[in-house]
Amino acid sequence: MKVFASIVVSSLLGLAKLANSISTNVLPSPVWQAGEYTIHETCNASQTFQLRRGLYDMMLLAEHAKAHILEHGNSSEIYVKYFGAAPSNEPAGWYDRVINANRSDVLFRCDDPDQNCATQDGWGGHWRGSNATQETVICPLSFQLRRYLEGICSFGYTVAGSPTNFYWGSDLLHRVFHVPRISLGLVEHYTESYEEVLALAIEDPSLSIIDSDALQYFALEVFSYIVFPGEGCPGEAPVPTPAPAPSSTASAAPSQTSSASDSCHTHADGFVHC
Ligand SMILES: *[C@@H]1O[C@H](CO)[C@@H](O)[C@H](O)[C@H]1NC(C)=O
Ligand SMILES: *[C@@H]1O[C@H](CO)[C@@H](O)[C@H](O)[C@H]1NC(C)=O
Ligand SMILES: *[C@@H]1O[C@H](CO)[C@@H](O)[C@H](O)[C@H]1NC(C)=O
Ligand SMILES: *[C@@H]1O[C@H](CO)[C@@H](O)[C@H](O)[C@H]1NC(C)=O
Repeated sequence: MKVFASIVVSSLLGLAKLANSISTNVLPSPVWQAGEYTIHETCNASQTFQLRRGLYDMMLLAEHAKAHILEHGNSSEIYVKYFGAAPSNEPAGWYDRVINANRSDVLFRCDDPDQNCATQDGWGGHWRGSNATQETVICPLSFQLRRYLEGICSFGYTVAGSPTNFYWGSDLLHRVFHVPRISLGLVEHYTESYEEVLALAIEDPSLSIIDSDALQYFALEVFSYIVFPGEGCPGEAPVPTPAPAPSSTASAAPSQTSSASDSCHTHADGFVHC
């Protein structure tokens, strides 16, 4: 019996060894290494340096957002705030695409091929849309305005009260969500203000998980709690108003949060820029 038992044990060990050798030596690794996002030669050395730093910040936001979702799912208050009752696989998947999807033809450039930097007041950059669907132009203004994540919760920034393009990381998250190679053409703009993001999570969470702004706000809020545990800088979350009165609010002074939406516009052809 003892002999039999030891045969069983050794063959089990043999199996384990075999399984180990299969996974490490025989089969190719299922994880392919996504390369860096490509920065065009029209960006000079300093711009390239800044964009690389910004893209690193974008990855950092996406990594923490994905990890938070995988760890806490919908038991996270932050999750429910931005994605309501939606299943958590999809937003985690979007962040994963930012980090790991094949981006070989995704391009950031610093020239102004469509003349939008030169002609559109206040543009920090734009997706090239039908002119070059995997390409993003970064205008000179971005290099003046965007901040790095080391400054999270600083300079008066709060998640609820500041525009999502305050930081390079979230601005670039927004920009890659326009690029079909990353977003599959599914992530879109469904909201125009922080209040609308919160309301959408209650009314139609199936849209929240493909709303570019909800995905940005969630990542920023999660990161703010990474840097300031137990505290973050969520800011004052206004009570969601599911049915905003059409005209009565028009005369009200614009709130600080509206600057987030003012910096983004959707055109009739679906082309969105900030
Ligand atoms: C790089 O580009 C920036 C922004 O356009 C410009 O201010 C700077 O002078 C350029 N640097 C060099 C060394 O060309
Ligand atoms: C959380 O997700 C589980 C499935 O994983 C689901 O059964 C539950 O209803 C969800 N809760 C909320 C509050 O959405
Ligand atoms: C990535 O996508 C390109 C086409 O966009 C394709 O040629 C390439 O084989 C894909 N895979 C890798 C590992 O680059
Ligand atoms: C595409 O190029 C045309 C011609 O240069 C230009 O008028 C148009 O604004 C460009 N589209 C975008 C989305 O920039």
